[in-house]
Amino acid sequence: MAQLADTLELVDIYVMGKHFRVPQGLTIQAALEYSGYNLIRGVGCRSGFCGACATVYCFQGDPQLRYALACQKAVEPDMYLTQIPFFPATSALYSMDDLKPVEGENTLLKLYSDMLTCFGCNNCTKSCPQDLEVMEFMSAAIRGDYEKVYESSFDCLMCGLCAARCPQGLRPYVMATAARRLRGAHLAPKSRHNLDRVREIQEGKFDADLDRLKNLSKDELRKLYDEREIEPAR
Ligand code: SF4
Ligand code: SF4
Ligand code: FES
Repeated sequence: MAQLADTLELVDIYVMGKHFRVPQGLTIQAALEYSGYNLIRGVGCRSGFCGACATVYCFQGDPQLRYALACQKAVEPDMYLTQIPFFPATSALYSMDDLKPVEGENTLLKLYSDMLTCFGCNNCTKSCPQDLEVMEFMSAAIRGDYEKVYESSFDCLMCGLCAARCPQGLRPYVMATAARRLRGAHLAPKSRHNLDRVREIQEGKFDADLDRLKNLSKDELRKLYDEREIEPAR
């Protein structure tokens, strides 16, 4: 690390108020580790998929709060930052079988009636590191338009920042998850291939193959895995 610091331009950052100089170009996550933090929370996939590394920052002399994923965002000079690896957000308990969407009713409101207290401040949208139109999918959820919620919230990583910033204590991502489940379970067209495969499994089509695999040694399994046919990229 010392050699790296000798050859790269360094920038000043402040982690929870503490000053560090780190090489320019590092992600916030790498900069935290460079600074000596051992990340056991607020880190997961390191690739922008899991939402574990939600980070809030501002700049010296500019108090406006900004939001990012630590594994994706590069450090910038004079960044004041901290991670929010977990934000408490409760979700309703429900069974999808019991929650059938009914014409003229918004099933989601049975789970989350507090959605109606959303007053359109747009804080949630401004805080989303995925640049999702969070307030828009909240409106769609309140209208019962699950297709729209599904489309607008599909890239949600469940980082929790929108919930952290909602002045009404709403959890937009939790509500969107329930809406996508409702759509998937009851409204989206069924996948014929999926249904066919489930039927084949139930009829025992793969039982013999599974039994054979269960009796292989670890090395035989590994060999089989390494030699498997991989679907060509399209
Ligand atoms: S919608 Fe909320 S939980 Fe999902 S990525 Fe955006 S801020 Fe994070
Ligand atoms: S932050 Fe909360 S109140 Fe504001 S628009 Fe989003 S969900 Fe509604
Ligand atoms: S560590 Fe998974 S999104 Fe950053």
